[in-house]
Amino acid sequence: MGGLVAFPTETVYGLGADARSPEAVGKIFAAKGRPADHPLIVHLPDASHLEGWTAHPPDLAYRLTETFWPGPLTLILKRAAGVSDAVTGGQETVGVRVPGHPTALALLEAFGGGVAAPSANRFGRISPTRAEHVRSELGDAVDLILDGGPCGVGLESTILDLSTGEPRVLRPGGTSIEALTAVLGFCPEVTESATVRVSGSLKSHYAPLTPVRLVETCELEEMAQNPATGVLARKPQPEDFVDEWITLPDEPEGYGRGLYAALRELDALGLEHILIERVSDTPEWLAVQDRLRRASAREVETT
Ligand code: TXA
Ligand code: MG
Repeated sequence: MGGLVAFPTETVYGLGADARSPEAVGKIFAAKGRPADHPLIVHLPDASHLEGWTAHPPDLAYRLTETFWPGPLTLILKRAAGVSDAVTGGQETVGVRVPGHPTALALLEAFGGGVAAPSANRFGRISPTRAEHVRSELGDAVDLILDGGPCGVGLESTILDLSTGEPRVLRPGGTSIEALTAVLGFCPEVTESATVRVSGSLKSHYAPLTPVRLVETCELEEMAQNPATGVLARKPQPEDFVDEWITLPDEPEGYGRGLYAALRELDALGLEHILIERVSDTPEWLAVQDRLRRASAREVETT
């Protein structure tokens, strides 16, 4: 496998290449337009492959994989000798996960090794949750697209850094902090790494091209009267509203599942503004909140 294969996972579609081949991995960066120092997640068929990719994983890593794999949790661990800089962005750590999707697992088992895969979108854009999103955004740059239907989680995996003394969440995602707390025995801090290039941590990321504003529920209907305005809300569309209004479920799992497809749909309409009704400030909404904040951030980090 020297080419690129887009495949469904339970979180979002990935753009995969043989993680042992720096040349194949290089094609991912070219297709995405992603800076070369941003590390990739290595997707594994099962936890027994940890040894080949990571050096001396702590017992805690195995306790976590027993509970959460296959599933939306990425672990950052010290890399094993021989894991290439192309995958790790030149760092001494590597991100690994076993995805919880039958098509992804069938691919990984048939391949028999690690598949490096970022989300299958162009750099800085919205992650794809359906095969047609990949097709329309990356098209010919991908050799094969496996269609597994819409992704069940719809937001990326939670990234937990186990490479330092203290486990930290670098990206909230499909595995809740509450579930991690139950296994860790304490609530991990949610921080962004100061040194590591985590592209999902750039201020503007997962972003539509149309300007996005987060608004309070009480402001929504009045502001939505402006022309060429699209709305992403939890409340139903008012009868007199003419422009595009998408209502997502008022609970975090359903909302997360539909968020990226809804943002893509609104973005494709060429509107002047997208208004998003703010979500609740409670822990269950953490991953959704994080993505909404980034979708509405206009500052793009350039360093
Ligand atoms: O749900 C997911 O995680 C999806 C599916 C396809 O598995 N993948 C995904 O990959 O979201 P990507 O590359 O779009 O985001 C992975 C994030 C990036 O922000 C990257 O910088 C970070 O993981 N990452 C990867 N390896 C890392 C490492 N060694 N240290 C710190 N961050 C790392
Ligand atoms: Mg991504």
